[in-house]
Amino acid sequence: MNVAHQGGDDQKALWNGTAGCAWVDAQETLDQMYEPIEQLLTDAIVAGGPRRVLDVGCGTGATTLAVARRLGAHGECVGVDVSEPMLAAARGRAARAGTPATFVRADAQTHPFEPASFDAVMSRFGVMFFDDPVRAFASLRRASRAGAELRCVVWRSPDENPFMTTAERAAAPLLPSVPPRVADAPGQFGFASSERVQRILEQSGWTGIDIQPIDVDCTFPERELTRHATRFGPLARVLDDADERTRARVVETVRAAFEPYVHGAEVRFVAACWMIAARAP
Ligand SMILES: C[S@@+](CC[C@H](N)C(=O)[O-])C[C@H]1O[C@@H](n2cnc3c(N)ncnc32)[C@H](O)[C@@H]1O
Repeated sequence: MNVAHQGGDDQKALWNGTAGCAWVDAQETLDQMYEPIEQLLTDAIVAGGPRRVLDVGCGTGATTLAVARRLGAHGECVGVDVSEPMLAAARGRAARAGTPATFVRADAQTHPFEPASFDAVMSRFGVMFFDDPVRAFASLRRASRAGAELRCVVWRSPDENPFMTTAERAAAPLLPSVPPRVADAPGQFGFASSERVQRILEQSGWTGIDIQPIDVDCTFPERELTRHATRFGPLARVLDDADERTRARVVETVRAAFEPYVHGAEVRFVAACWMIAARAP
């Protein structure tokens, strides 16, 4: 995940540029990696018996398509995202699978959604990038019918997710320009503080707020590890600027640092996340 801690236009540029392209290129691996989270999220959403579901920051569409498939003719799932390359990938997948999901290119914090038009709003890792999260969640609440469910999975802190910061920690001595993570700023760990998330949801008018820790076992093929370690996160933002010799040393050092996570042909790590639930009043 490419985790700039800038907001607004910078996020749009990132997700339409390097971060979006990295997600599209690695879509199959990422979907496999986060499939257990897709399962948890979509089980919870579908259990509520919704007819119309909004998937915020839907990216390449894994969760949008999963819910659309499970709702079948009884409902509709709409994915919203700022990233054109990721939406193109999502639309392509929907067409190939014959799954009738709808995708909208828009900034979820400012898009004029039709009021009270969704029975549920969900997101897997797509709501931590807003520069004005209260405004964004107030807009999502207005788009929700009374009693509609909000369900989002977001990352807990970097300390609880050492796998996610291994690359930048290993590379730092060789590449001091790797940007640091900034607490509470838009980015991968922007919702790491549950107290902050609670405040954002209260201030944006959601009720019945429940934020629970979930620890999810994730796996992906070892052959994808080097790509994952060097194309996502803060390291990816500076690695291309390094000279060839430094790049080669960084790649070697970073790959070695991931050794504790390698089990034969498989990489295993735990995703330490929050499962956020709330209701529109
Ligand atoms: C980490 S990716 C997650 C993608 C997808 N939910 C998944 O789990 O595969 C974050 C997504 O949020 C999107 N995003 C970031 N800011 C957004 C905004 N303001 N409005 C809509 N989407 C946004 C990005 O374009 C990206 O697709």
